Amino acid sequence: MHILVTGGAGYIGSHTTLQLLERGDTVTVFDNLNNSSTISLERVSQLIDKPINFIQGDLIDTNELHKLFSQFQFDSVVHFAGLKAVGESVAQPLRYYQNNVSGTLNLLQEMQKANIKTLIFSSSATVYGDPQALPVTEEAPVKPTNPYGQSKAMIEKILSDLCDSDSEWRIACLRYFNPVGAHPSGYIGEDPSGIPNNLMPFVSQVATGLRECLSVFGNDYDTPDGTGVRDYIHVMDLAQGHLAALDYLANQPSGKLLTINLGTGRGYSVLEMIEAFEKTIGKPISYRIVGRRSGDVASCYADPSLAEKLLDWKAARGIEDMCIDTWRWQSNNPRGYREQQ
Ligand code: NAD
Ligand code: WQD
Repeated sequence: MHILVTGGAGYIGSHTTLQLLERGDTVTVFDNLNNSSTISLERVSQLIDKPINFIQGDLIDTNELHKLFSQFQFDSVVHFAGLKAVGESVAQPLRYYQNNVSGTLNLLQEMQKANIKTLIFSSSATVYGDPQALPVTEEAPVKPTNPYGQSKAMIEKILSDLCDSDSEWRIACLRYFNPVGAHPSGYIGEDPSGIPNNLMPFVSQVATGLRECLSVFGNDYDTPDGTGVRDYIHVMDLAQGHLAALDYLANQPSGKLLTINLGTGRGYSVLEMIEAFEKTIGKPISYRIVGRRSGDVASCYADPSLAEKLLDWKAARGIEDMCIDTWRWQSNNPRGYREQQ
C-alpha cells in the first residue's frame, strides 16, 4: 500500500511512518516543517535502512497539494499535519482555524478529485473538554474549550458530513489521549521547540538540567493527590493504533466513519508521573506547586474498549516503558534534533 502521511516529520507522524515502513508499506511524507525538521526522517531512514520519500509542502498551498496528488497514486492518507498548542490557539485562533480546518479541507478536496477515499485523522481527547463522566467513552458530548479543540471538532464534523454524502469514504477519527514516550532506540522522540507545554517533555528537560524546576499546576483538584489526572499513552502504542485502524478500514465491505478513543484507560496524576520518572532516572526531579493552569481539567482518561473490540488494539506499554523510553530519548538528545544542526 502507498500511504501519504501528512505531518510525518513530527512526533507521532515519525513513529507511525517507521512502523508503516517496517511492515512493508510505501510511505510518502508531506510536511511543511513548521514544527519539525528533516532530521527525524533521516533517523527513521537509518532505523529502517531505507530512504524516505519526503515532499516539503504546505496543506494551505493548493497548487503544491495538486502537484503531490498528480505525482503519486496513494491508497490512503494518514493525516497528522496540524498546529497543536492550546495556549497559542487562544492567542492566534485564525491561524489555527486556517491551518487545521482549511488545510484539511484542501486535503479532502484533492483526495476526492484523485478518488482516494481512505483517511485516518488525528483527533484529540481535547474535543471532550471537561468530561462529565469517567472513563470517557466516544459517546460523551463534544465540548471543546479552546480554538485548537474546536478545530478538531469542526474537522470531525466535516468528515462525518463527507461520509454521509458519499458512502465510499472510509474514515477513522482517532481521539488520542496524552501521547508520551519515544522509540525504544532513543533515536526519535518528541522535540518541542522552546519551553515545553506538556508535562513529560518538561519533566525530562528538568532531569537533563536544561530546565531548573517543574511547575506543578495546582494540587487542589478533586483527585486522589490533588494534581491533575491524565491517560498517558506510549507513542509506539499510538502508532500501532493507526496501523490497526488502516487494516480495519481496508476490511470494511463498504464506507465507514469510525470515531475511536486511543488511550490506556488508566489515569495517572502529575505527582505519580514525577515519582515514576524519578524511579527511572534514580534521582529527584525538582518541582514546586503553583496555581492551576487556565483551561486545565481535573481528570481525563479513556474508556478504550471500543478500540479493543473493533480494531483488536490495546495499549501494551505501561508507565515504566513510557518513562524509560522518554529518558533514553532525552538523555541521548538533550537538545532534541537541534544537536545535529
Ligand atoms: P507535531 O507538531 O510534532 O507534528 C505535526 C506536523 O505537522 C509537524 O511536523 C508540522 O511541521 C506539520 N504541519 C503542521 N501544519 C502543516 C501544514 N499546514 N502543512 C504541512 N505540514 C504541517 O505534532 P504531533 O504531536 O506529532 O501531533 C500530530 C497530530 O496529532 C496533530 O494533528 C495533533 O493535533 C494531534 N494530536 C496530538 C497530541 C499530542 O499531545 N501530541 C494529542 C492529540 C492529538
Ligand atoms: C498534563 C498534566 C497539567 C505541564 C494537552 C492538550 C491536549 C492534547 C495533549 C493535543 C495536567 C500538568 C503540565 C507542566 C504541570 N494535545 N502539567 N506542569 O493539558 O492534558 O493535554 O496535551 O491534542 O489537547 O491540552 O497535557 O501534558 O500539558 O498536562 O503540572 O509544566 O500535567 O496541569 O494536569 P494536557 P499536559
